[in-house]
Amino acid sequence: MEHPIQRFLIWWERAIKNSPLKQKSAVCVSTINNEGFPAARFVDLKSVSNDGIVFCTYLDSAKGKEISICNKVALTAWWDHIGYQIRVTGRATPLPDEEADRYWKTRTTDAQITTHVCEQSQPLANPNELVDKVAAINRDNSLNPSIRPINWGGYSVVAHSIEFLTFKEDRLHLRELFTLNDGVWTKSFLQP
Ligand SMILES: Cc1cc2nc3c(=O)[nH]c(=O)nc-3n(C[C@H](O)[C@H](O)[C@H](O)COP(=O)(O)O)c2cc1C
Repeated sequence: MEHPIQRFLIWWERAIKNSPLKQKSAVCVSTINNEGFPAARFVDLKSVSNDGIVFCTYLDSAKGKEISICNKVALTAWWDHIGYQIRVTGRATPLPDEEADRYWKTRTTDAQITTHVCEQSQPLANPNELVDKVAAINRDNSLNPSIRPINWGGYSVVAHSIEFLTFKEDRLHLRELFTLNDGVWTKSFLQP
């Protein structure tokens, strides 16, 4: 049987190729907030392998705090130009420091500075405050942006289920569900 992670990689490659989108790898990550509501937002998909599906963020953001309480998450992607939807459920764990450092180094200096300046998910009285902070850092060179802030890293989601939907114009979408039980993936179909 085809491995669902292999399929994910093949679909992701197709999604990136000829994508009309600027943000070609955005996926929706859903967590559970402290009131029991789902909390969903887009992040940038960084890598997909048998070890996990990786995205990067602030570890002390709302999503980071939510994951520290309940690490069950969902990831959802829709790639309109090829008609593919992927839905993942799984458990998120923080990336080891070396891996977080590797992703940090892929960021531009501007993105690193912005990341240093922001306290993601915290209230902000006036958006100009952050513009001013970035400008001040650029002016006085007081920060070495290449050093990763300790509150920034990533999460690796180890999948428990992965559903692949192929959109059909007649609405008879093909839904293929892969579920992991005792280390073995099984495949079934779902009605659209
Ligand atoms: C296309 C797109 C990509 C994004 N990528 C990321 C990302 O990779 N990491 C991140 O922390 N936030 C990213 N964001 C911002 C998040 O959607 C969200 O606003 C932020 O992470 C704060 O979420 P939280 O307060 O629920 O933790 C992205 C937003 C969009 C629209």
